[in-house]
Amino acid sequence: MNVFIIGITGGVGSLLAAELLNRGDTVIGLVRNHEQQNHLRDRGITTMLGDLTELSPTELADRTGDADTMVFTAGAGGGTQAATTAIDGEGVSTAIAAAELLSARPRFGLISVFPEAWRERNLGPEFDHYIDVKKHAELALTQSDLDWVILRPSALRDDPGTGTVELGPAEIHETITRADVARTMAELLHEARISRRILEVTAGATPIARAVHQNIRHDR
Ligand SMILES: NC(=O)c1ccc[n+]([C@@H]2O[C@H](COP(=O)([O-])OP(=O)(O)OC[C@H]3O[C@@H](n4cnc5c(N)ncnc54)[C@H](OP(=O)(O)O)[C@@H]3O)[C@@H](O)[C@H]2O)c1
Repeated sequence: MNVFIIGITGGVGSLLAAELLNRGDTVIGLVRNHEQQNHLRDRGITTMLGDLTELSPTELADRTGDADTMVFTAGAGGGTQAATTAIDGEGVSTAIAAAELLSARPRFGLISVFPEAWRERNLGPEFDHYIDVKKHAELALTQSDLDWVILRPSALRDDPGTGTVELGPAEIHETITRADVARTMAELLHEARISRRILEVTAGATPIARAVHQNIRHDR
């Protein structure tokens, strides 16, 4: 596969790039400065410069090279409501529109969030806005003609991956390592039989390859 990652310098994005490179895939990423470009070049990753909030769909499409797969794992990371709207919301719309412009329509992976994440904590209007924007981004992708997969991870942790998860259409929101999310997304991208599906992932005991395989639907 030839994968274009938006959010490649982030926690999940950089781990996803490593997973894909290990599998022999080619990885291209969108970055915002030359320092990031130099760092990623040393890891064998081609990068394209651009700020997602400033690119048109055409300009983003021009940066994707020969990608047959696009992944959106960018985010405002608890920034202002305006930043969340611009990146987690409008950024996804720009990426979908860019994918739709490409003659070989890429498969599209979106890292989203559990809609009920941390509802019990009453985290305030910024967090409520974040959840709302993420849901609208999912809606936009599900209404596109693309071949997509949406992965909703529990709250992210940075400790080492376990290689095991629980994955399904409905899971209980807890926590999960970014490494396990990255590996699950890599596995999903490689499983073409999982198409136009929303899956939730949290820490668990099922080896990731088996968890993905268990979600192949045999009723179609
Ligand atoms: N935190 C959680 O508990 C949690 C839970 C569920 C889902 N999620 C979602 O999981 C995804 C990955 O989270 P993460 O914590 O791994 O991400 P992260 O480390 O915060 O990384 C965010 C990425 O987005 C990029 N980005 C931000 N603004 C951009 C812009 N204007 N143009 C281009 N790139 C831009 C950043 O690039 P720079 O390096 O240039 O800033 C970075 O690569 C996010 O979509 C997040 O909403 C998070």
